[in-house]
Amino acid sequence: MPYKEGPLSGAAPYHFFGKKVFRVGGHRGQETWSKEDICAHLGDDYDRFLGAVVPPIFQNSLFTRKTVNHGYTYTRVTNPTTEIAEKKIAALEEGEEAKCFASGMAAITSALLHALEQGSHVICPKSVYTPTRGFLETYLTRFGVEATFVESESVEAFEREIRPNTKVIFLESPVSNLFSLQDLGELSRLARAHNITTIIDNTWATPMYQNPIRFGIDLVVHSASKYLGGHSDIVGGVVIGRKETMTEMMHRERGMLGGIMDPHQSWLLLRGLRTLPIRMRQHQENGMKVAKFLEEHPAVERVYYPGLPSHPQYELGRKQMTGYSGLMSFVPKGNDEQIWAFIKSLRFFEEGPSWGGFESLINSPGIGISEESSGRTGIPSGLVRISIGLEQVDSLIDDLDRGLRSMKV
Ligand SMILES: Cc1ncc(COP(=O)(O)O)c(C=O)c1O
Repeated sequence: MPYKEGPLSGAAPYHFFGKKVFRVGGHRGQETWSKEDICAHLGDDYDRFLGAVVPPIFQNSLFTRKTVNHGYTYTRVTNPTTEIAEKKIAALEEGEEAKCFASGMAAITSALLHALEQGSHVICPKSVYTPTRGFLETYLTRFGVEATFVESESVEAFEREIRPNTKVIFLESPVSNLFSLQDLGELSRLARAHNITTIIDNTWATPMYQNPIRFGIDLVVHSASKYLGGHSDIVGGVVIGRKETMTEMMHRERGMLGGIMDPHQSWLLLRGLRTLPIRMRQHQENGMKVAKFLEEHPAVERVYYPGLPSHPQYELGRKQMTGYSGLMSFVPKGNDEQIWAFIKSLRFFEEGPSWGGFESLINSPGIGISEESSGRTGIPSGLVRISIGLEQVDSLIDDLDRGLRSMKV
């Protein structure tokens, strides 16, 4: 359902240098917003910001209130620059409200802490992002919280593990190393029947290509350090959910733990968001071409990318996603030493663990992995992960081809 400017947000009065001002409608009276329009213009509010085409950075900690109470107090609670980013992301995700955090991990841990209490139980896919697993597996156990890690593909695996004290099903679909999916509709139905909160890490698909709230998921989290920012120049996170939940989270987890996004970060996030639709289209186009190339390469054992029709959950992906981003993994034929030499030989792919930026990257979660760790997480030996950037795709394919051929397997 496309975002619609609600009567309250459109017509609410605000104060400008002490004068009460009303603004009706959205950008130039627009009522229904496409994702492209949201990214470009939602929250612009030219009148409020002296006609500035780019809103300013409110780089201040305190808001004074002697003459006008405009609703702001302190930047640890909320900030006008951050609020514009939140308005855009909530609309993109078709959620009621969004809150920005200092990092993706601040968003994930806050969402989990919000939904959990002492003695709760969590169910989560076994290949989930490693620090998320670490938080569930080592940190939260100090407060009596238990976590069970399951095969991501199977709804029954989640169902089997439900206990009376299960409070959260935490999803990451696709998981960002093996790109297996979880069935969002089925799992949210299952969770609702047991009064369990569902949280999803939606960083891979971005709100451009997957809107989990449509499928009944309660809370959506993002690392904004990836595609939302898109320029590898910020670390940030977002949680999206119902208004009441998000207001509570703003005062409790964000306000008390203090992990809000800072205004300059928010301003850079806004700059990234303006080009999100066009960047994602290019990441998708480049990603698909690279995935198809790798799938046919004689030096490649297996490719993990949900956009390939050969992906075992391709049909589920088409049901719940409208597109694909540019992060994928594959297992080259060859031993660890050969694979490492291949990585080092690449010209366009710097080695590094992050992803979702303009630049192509490669890293190697499966090189040197122990049998125990491989069994626990499902990551096979030799797995390499690549983030396909915005370079000319033929340059990337030539680079990978030359590197793979030099392995002589
Ligand atoms: C899937 C996924 N979720 C969450 C995070 C955490 O985000 P951040 O680095 O912004 O804390 C990452 C970071 O790599 C990630 O890959």
